[in-house]
Amino acid sequence: MANLESEFVGIKSPNPFWLASAPPTDKEYNVRRAFEAGWGGVVWKTLGEAGPPVVNVNGPRYGAIYGADRRLLGLNNIELITDRPLEVNLEEMTRVKRDYPDHALIASVMVPCEEDAWKKILPMIAETGCDGFELNFGCPHGMAERGMGSAVGQVPEYIEMVARWCKEATDLPVIVKLTPNITNVLYPAEAALRGGADAVSLINTINSITSVNLDVMSPEPMIDGKGTHGGYCGPAVKPIAMNMVAEIARNPETANLPISGIGGITTWRDAAEFMALGAGNVQVCTAAMTYGFKIVQEMISGLSQWMDEKGYESTADFVGMATPNVTDWQHLNLNHITKAEISQDDCIKCGRCYAACEDTSHQAIEMSEDRVFTVKDDECVACNLCVNVCPVENCITMRTLEPGEMDERTGKPVSDAYGSWLSHPNNPSVQAAE
Ligand SMILES: Cc1cc2nc3c(=O)[nH]c(=O)nc-3n(C[C@H](O)[C@H](O)[C@H](O)COP(=O)(O)O)c2cc1C
Ligand code: SF4
Ligand code: SF4
Repeated sequence: MANLESEFVGIKSPNPFWLASAPPTDKEYNVRRAFEAGWGGVVWKTLGEAGPPVVNVNGPRYGAIYGADRRLLGLNNIELITDRPLEVNLEEMTRVKRDYPDHALIASVMVPCEEDAWKKILPMIAETGCDGFELNFGCPHGMAERGMGSAVGQVPEYIEMVARWCKEATDLPVIVKLTPNITNVLYPAEAALRGGADAVSLINTINSITSVNLDVMSPEPMIDGKGTHGGYCGPAVKPIAMNMVAEIARNPETANLPISGIGGITTWRDAAEFMALGAGNVQVCTAAMTYGFKIVQEMISGLSQWMDEKGYESTADFVGMATPNVTDWQHLNLNHITKAEISQDDCIKCGRCYAACEDTSHQAIEMSEDRVFTVKDDECVACNLCVNVCPVENCITMRTLEPGEMDERTGKPVSDAYGSWLSHPNNPSVQAAE
């Protein structure tokens, strides 16, 4: 039986599934039930300075994007950091850590970009017995306008400076949570490393407007006739988050910087994908908000069953295994040739593949008078669009041509040699070198 016990920057937890800093981790009542449900750790809802707590809007604070079956695909929020007094949060965190010493409890923190503010609050929070800190340089709304959150996360020099202050103020691990609202995630990640951070976590939410009310002519969620950009998360952001994780994991400068992967994780498979790309553990928010705390039980059983099947004894066995296979386009093997193949037994004759290929790809699907759909190998460029639009899973598959087999589109046999753009005869730099 696979061992899911996890150690991330020295912080132990019964499994690699942590709840991200957000409403699910807002209070003792939630966190106790989360631990009972099986979550390995929590990053407590972001704490701010002592004094009057922040004030949230009293109208709707969430917006959503749905699939055709009304499954929630993307969630948008205009919520701020905790709106509960600091001392109440600290008391609750102390009690929770006392009662769940084997679970990870991380304090997420966001205070003004001033040395005193960070150096004052970290030791206070450390008294709760928490296992580490996560610096929230990611929230894109509300706090950013006050010079915090993503306003810090978008300036590498600030990230480095604050991370350094925090490392000077505590012996506990410091995780820097990154904003995706930047052009190149390597700049903030490298800045976190220079500042001495023990790890990065990503992603926080993406600037977004999810919908516009066309009667009132206002973005939603709408507060008294006006809206503002919010932070986008949930399944829709997973591809963006995974790319950022992979970029950090394969960048020589940051390759050894531990990563906590966040963004749209809903199933064990999502988690395994993030981890294969280099995340040492994962954090979840929207899935818990959509389906409740018990969703972690499917993540735990699914991950452990898959690890057993693959013969992985611990998560460390597969963390980062996919990273070496993330490459730049120029290194892809242009001699690898595939063709679409339609299973007539599975086809329901809907014609979506035909419309897609005929109108927007390479006119490589033939439709007979009695609606039998077949691929023309001499036209198919293997773009995969038909696979993507077909409503029947695995009805269209891509078959790899064997070396020596004729590619009817080019009229040439398939080469068994690796040949990328770097050696391709059409590449002007190859021509110049000849
Ligand atoms: C309603 C809401 C509130 C959030 N509040 C915080 C916060 O206080 N601090 C923080 O670091 N991230 C916050 N986040 C971001 C999440 O921690 C997480 O980074 C993001 O939602 C992506 O993960 P997901 O796709 O699993 O939701 C919040 C997200 C949501 C939906
Ligand atoms: S893979 Fe692309 S080109 Fe080939 S049949 Fe499908 S849609 Fe057409
Ligand atoms: S999209 Fe799929 S199910 Fe529909 S006609 Fe094409 S192969 Fe058949």
